[in-house]
Amino acid sequence: MKQSLFITGGAGFIGSNFVRYVFQKTDLRMVIIDKLTYAGHKVSLAGILKSPRVKFEKVDIADTVAIRRLYQRYKPVGVVNLAAESHVDRSIDSPGDFIETNIVGAHVMLDQALQFWKTLPRAKQKKFRFLHVSTDEVYGSLGKTGLFKETTPYSPNSPYSASKASADHLVRAYYETYGLPALITNCSNNYGPYQFPEKLIPLALLNAMEGKNVPIYGDGLNVRDWLYVEDHCAGIWQAFRRGRLGEKYNIGGRNERTNLEVVDRLLDALEEFYPAARNPALLRKGICCYHELKTFVHDRPGHDRRYAIDASKIRRELNWKPKYDYESGIRRTVRWYLEHLDWCRAVQTTYQRERLGLKK
Ligand code: NAD
Ligand code: DAU
Repeated sequence: MKQSLFITGGAGFIGSNFVRYVFQKTDLRMVIIDKLTYAGHKVSLAGILKSPRVKFEKVDIADTVAIRRLYQRYKPVGVVNLAAESHVDRSIDSPGDFIETNIVGAHVMLDQALQFWKTLPRAKQKKFRFLHVSTDEVYGSLGKTGLFKETTPYSPNSPYSASKASADHLVRAYYETYGLPALITNCSNNYGPYQFPEKLIPLALLNAMEGKNVPIYGDGLNVRDWLYVEDHCAGIWQAFRRGRLGEKYNIGGRNERTNLEVVDRLLDALEEFYPAARNPALLRKGICCYHELKTFVHDRPGHDRRYAIDASKIRRELNWKPKYDYESGIRRTVRWYLEHLDWCRAVQTTYQRERLGLKK
């Protein structure tokens, strides 16, 4: 039997891009484990699911019995754990879901990996790897200067980042205590195709296209460090193949932008590909410029002010560097959304881009 790689969360934004990346770069067989929450959609894997190299298992990573069965059945050579509740605003409304998937689920994946790994012969034990995909949000918020390094102390501020931080600590503990061959990547904000339209970039784009307000939280001066999703996938893959066990690798593109700058660039790109003067949704409202749609709204509670990643370790040790600059990444993204409005419709059955994260 060909070797199998477990990819959890493979029907989500980064997961579906990662599945495509590994599919193109290797001849590995992949087992996609995904619960198909509001954020997970098989349509994001269109085409690839037909391949005999890809198996799809609709399973919750927090389901110990089901996960144990999958390890026994497929005997994976490794695991890339991407499955998570990923949206900060939803974590403010319903933190329990984040505890269950991001902490309990990560623990089940780790513990069942350990039980399985212990049964392997020595040669296979040496090859096995568990890579946990995490976020720069575990480090908290930066002031005007400075960068997150792998040694920056954890200081999470939202239920989302607290749950991701907990999972990172469990990964470390399973390495230190039980010797499970595990490592972690911590990445900054991703953008690109197949991102669910609750996140700033697709939400702003789709709202603008439909002539709806583009909500900007607070003063719009919070800073994020943006990376094109394929570059993140390449970093995860390098770390999975060649990263040192027990280590953490920060991944980021040194692309710091305020949210206002991001929205302005997006709206300019949209104007280029779909001029407002030809957009019936805007014409109907007598709006002649996408920028008129920008609207300042209540800030996100606990809103981290600035993220910025020092990715020198993964650059130095694993020879990773981003392929896409911000300009080309943004243009590709805007075009992708304009060309995939059917995908946007298909994934937005239970959510219509309403404001989240103000409830509790
Ligand atoms: P996403 O919300 O788009 O996708 C998450 C996927 O996980 C979905 O397919 C969903 O169905 C699945 N899932 C959720 N709960 C599950 C469960 N209990 N069992 C099995 N599957 C479940 O998220 P994303 O943006 O692709 O993020 C993927 C990972 O990368 C997450 O761990 C996130 O913390 C991390 N990350 C994201 C970013 C970013 O900018 N999006 C940056 C750094 C790290
Ligand atoms: O830094 C990595 C993290 O990036 C990942 O771990 C998370 O999974 C991912 O969701 C992302 O978190 P953010 O909270 O930074 O992403 P989001 O797209 O929700 O918001 C980006 C910025 O834009 C943030 O400062 C809040 C702001 N924002 C967001 C939305 C949805 C707005 O101003 N308006 C909006 O409508």
